Amino acid sequence: MDRRRIIIDCDPGVDDAVMLLFAGAARDALDIVGITTVAGNVSAALTARNACIVRALAAREDIPVYAGCTQPLQRTPVEAGHFHGESGLGDLPITAPRHGPEARHAVDLIVETLLAAAPGSVTLVATGPLTNVATALAREPAIRRGLREIAIMGGARSEGGNITASAEYNIHADPDAAQAVFGSGCTVVAFGLDATHQVRATPARVDAVRAVGSRAALAAVELLEFSNALPANGPREQGAPLHDPCPIAWLLRPEAFKFRPCHVDVETRSTLTLGHTAVEFRAAPQRPQNVLWAVSADGDAVFGLLTATLARDAAR
Ligand code: BDR
Ligand code: CA
Repeated sequence: MDRRRIIIDCDPGVDDAVMLLFAGAARDALDIVGITTVAGNVSAALTARNACIVRALAAREDIPVYAGCTQPLQRTPVEAGHFHGESGLGDLPITAPRHGPEARHAVDLIVETLLAAAPGSVTLVATGPLTNVATALAREPAIRRGLREIAIMGGARSEGGNITASAEYNIHADPDAAQAVFGSGCTVVAFGLDATHQVRATPARVDAVRAVGSRAALAAVELLEFSNALPANGPREQGAPLHDPCPIAWLLRPEAFKFRPCHVDVETRSTLTLGHTAVEFRAAPQRPQNVLWAVSADGDAVFGLLTATLARDAAR
């Protein structure tokens, strides 16, 4: 099977960390050119360190990590440590990683990789604020040629917001960057809360991951249990939503999600609704429908895939 070439841009983050364990285990399906990190859930220094810790847990120190933008394009940082713990990795033990990030900046890696890539060959998976991605697009618009699509976790329509009444965290944290990405003309595949709230870490699903028993699987369980214990994520039996692994699950099994084409604009002016995603399904000549909006997700399929991928990697 041809492996899908991807760059992962993230802000680990508990669910970003599960995503990295998942993607790292999908060795036979994903060719991960690099992991780029951005300020978001915690500071830029911590997201880069955390990516290095998690790639080691995944036994994927072959994947380089590049630290990126340290603050949103125009705004004061909004962190989400209350959802991810002070370290950004919940209760995972923190030890200094043996190998740190590369010297090159994340935006340089994105630009250089996409300029050198065959047309339409690379998928950029983004699971944090879109600062690195927007900066790369602004610096070198020609990178669009190398992109197959940008698959993001971000936004909300029917579910309302999770950081404010109407905004999802990744979009709210850097709304100007998000507007630039949605308006870039690139194909964007968006996994917002409408879909990710359907992928929940129920006790039975967490037990299935635990049964895999590998180091990566047990780290994933620790992260999932941390989120499940947060009162803000609802009752434990219902399970916390698993956001960031969704784009990876889609790359591995597209039929686990349903989409509608649309145009998305991001609210960048109102303080009350800052970062709201205005999702317009009605087509009009002045509104290019370059976004595929995930309207539903099959939670059993996503967790089944996560479990099977970790198990296959453990048996390697
Ligand atoms: C998103 O916000 C972050 O806190 C999570 O890592 C995820 O990317 C969910 O709204
Ligand atoms: Ca994230």
